Amino acid sequence: MSPTTAPVREATPRHYLMCRPTYFDVTYAINPWMDPGKPVDPELAVEQWEQLRRLYLEHGHTVDLIEPVDGLPDMVFAANGATVVDDRVLVARFRHAERAAEAPAYYAWFMLQGYDDVHHAEYVNEAEGDYMVLGDTVLAGTGFRTDPRAHTELEEVLGRRVVTLNLVDPRFYHLDTALAVLSDTEVMYYPGAFSPQSLAALRELYPGAVLVDEADADVFGLNAVSDGLHVFLPDTATGLARTLRERGFEPVGVDLSELLKAGGSVKCCTLEIRHRAEA
Ligand code: ARG
Repeated sequence: MSPTTAPVREATPRHYLMCRPTYFDVTYAINPWMDPGKPVDPELAVEQWEQLRRLYLEHGHTVDLIEPVDGLPDMVFAANGATVVDDRVLVARFRHAERAAEAPAYYAWFMLQGYDDVHHAEYVNEAEGDYMVLGDTVLAGTGFRTDPRAHTELEEVLGRRVVTLNLVDPRFYHLDTALAVLSDTEVMYYPGAFSPQSLAALRELYPGAVLVDEADADVFGLNAVSDGLHVFLPDTATGLARTLRERGFEPVGVDLSELLKAGGSVKCCTLEIRHRAEA
């Protein structure tokens, strides 16, 4: 597709929740990217994160902040805290003990903000790390973190159709490292991260999807956030940025190299709060 035939895109203002990486560190390894022996620059991590927050604000989005907790170095990855659809909140339940205490912190935040439909989860689910909301569908990952039984729970709590996708490559342990939502009807993904059956399901649901190669996936290019026009993604995913431009999107490159040492990037830092449509 040449740039002149690309569809006209429009950004819609979003509401995000983020957590400043004040206590960020890599002190344990729960995914293949984490190496506790490798030094982390906490100040640089905060600077890089601040840049992402600033970019969201400059592009017209609202960013709320949750207070970071000392001793929870991964809490910066707010996407894992909860899934919010129509102002209804399903709080995460973490796979690993190291992150378990993040769930009550997110629960408390939503309660304090006055949300009146906040649910604890029965089954392990790492929220938007594994749940991608688009249109009336939620694409739900499993294989490494989220328990497949949590998919049924999500369907019951949110009242949305849930499509289960099986992840098979440990580098792409959360769905949001292997697939990103671009609009209500469009996704991009790295085929190598999925089981053959899940790949067939994706092909059928999204025949026009942007297929991402291993090089762009490996620098976390799919850990991206789209507002319908701008796609915020790691600045190292240069091939993907080109493809997105051809499709009529405006890629916005971000350097989150410090956070990548924990196996996270743009999307991991961003929990989207989806409000009920006004009647
Ligand atoms: N170190 C964190 C973990 O392994 C990274 C989480 C990244 N978040 C995400 N949404 N993929 O749990």
